[in-house]
Amino acid sequence: MERTFAIIKPDAVAAGHSGAILQRIETAGFAVVAMRLTRLSKSDAEGFYAVHRERPFFDALTTFMSSGPAVVLALSAPEAISKWRTLMGATDPANADEGTMRRDFGTSIDRNATHGSDAPETAAFELSYFFRGLELV
Ligand code: CMP
Repeated sequence: MERTFAIIKPDAVAAGHSGAILQRIETAGFAVVAMRLTRLSKSDAEGFYAVHRERPFFDALTTFMSSGPAVVLALSAPEAISKWRTLMGATDPANADEGTMRRDFGTSIDRNATHGSDAPETAAFELSYFFRGLELV
């Protein structure tokens, strides 16, 4: 079993897609290890996306991610990291395969409905950024 970190982003929560996305997560065979509805501050978002701080979209990204409530999740499954990324689809919804989260619920590369860790080290950082150890047993 592997764990990954996921976010249902503010655009998808505001559009009322949280329930549909959670249903797809469970139908796909993930176990939800931890889950919380939260609102990131701008500095929470800046810390979370620190790897992107030199990118031109950093300010817009962190402003958007702190613009409203989001659902943060710890998910477990065999090969959870790649499995969740496949289920999400390409970063830009316009390039995402049919049936993926971003294709069905995202509206642009900036408002792409979901986030997922891209590697084991990132998953470890991102899980510990949002969840205490006791929440992940
Ligand atoms: P996410 O998987 O959350 O990781 C970083 C986010 O930055 C990404 O989803 C996109 O929503 C956003 N973003 C905006 N522009 C770009 C870009 N050109 N390349 C990658 N990510 C981008």
